[in-house]
Amino acid sequence: MGLIQIRDFQKSFGTKKVHQGVSFDVRKGECLGLIGGSGTGKSVLLRSMIGLERPDAGEVIFDGIPVHELTERQLIDVRKRMAYAFQGGALFDSMTVFDNLAYPLREHTQMTEIEISKKIKAQLAEFGLQGNEEVYPGNLSGGMQKRVGLARSIILGPEVILYDEPTAGLDPFNTRKIQDMVLRLKSTGVTAVLVTHDMPFAFAVCDRIAMLMNGRIRASGTVDEIEQQDSNLIGKFAQGEMI
Ligand SMILES: Nc1ncnc2c1ncn2[C@@H]1O[C@H](COP(=O)(O)OP(=O)(O)OP(=O)(O)O)[C@@H](O)[C@H]1O
Ligand SMILES: [Mg+2]
Repeated sequence: MGLIQIRDFQKSFGTKKVHQGVSFDVRKGECLGLIGGSGTGKSVLLRSMIGLERPDAGEVIFDGIPVHELTERQLIDVRKRMAYAFQGGALFDSMTVFDNLAYPLREHTQMTEIEISKKIKAQLAEFGLQGNEEVYPGNLSGGMQKRVGLARSIILGPEVILYDEPTAGLDPFNTRKIQDMVLRLKSTGVTAVLVTHDMPFAFAVCDRIAMLMNGRIRASGTVDEIEQQDSNLIGKFAQGEMI
């Protein structure tokens, strides 16, 4: 049984039926890659896992909890357990890096300012971002902003991390840094869903990959299975073939 279960997920925007019955599981401790062309509904699925969107029909279950039925108040607990690393980083531009990272700790924990300061120092060091405490996001490079965003999204120690294109637009150095972070977090037993167009990255960090196409999961398998059969849909997608 999956820690996250998506069952017959359906969602339309206007007349456009984006999801026409999407079902898959995310197992505890695994990293599931969710791939598919632009506009196939990957981000909407991630957002639904923390209740930022709701399906028109179907279910989103997290650890037995029907997320799609929860009130905003009930969703607070789910959002503490599941972190969403937003596509753009989503930092507060008017706050320093330190205050960006302190925000979730001040909102959701009883930690003292001294404890918060220690925690942030350690977190920044782990992400190779030490010394940037007093910098404003606008003065950081895009790659560093993404790393700060990731550092902030996991600061409460979530059980699940939802990554939305964490390496999009990054140079090889920053891509490598993010890849190392994802692998390090994985080694701590965290469960992850990774949405990405970066297929080498997906193959390097995921246990299984599922592909969205025409409103449904059209292919899925372990990375080993996919690498062995290059004639399948995911292999073709990875090679940039028309499918
Ligand atoms: N709030 C919204 N209002 C209207 N349409 C929306 C909304 N959110 C998503 N959509 C539409 O739903 C479809 C799926 O969007 P989504 O952002 O999930 O795609 P995606 O697979 O993440 O694409 P990409 O790879 O480009 O990020 C798109 O056609 C998008 O325009
Ligand atoms: Mg997206």
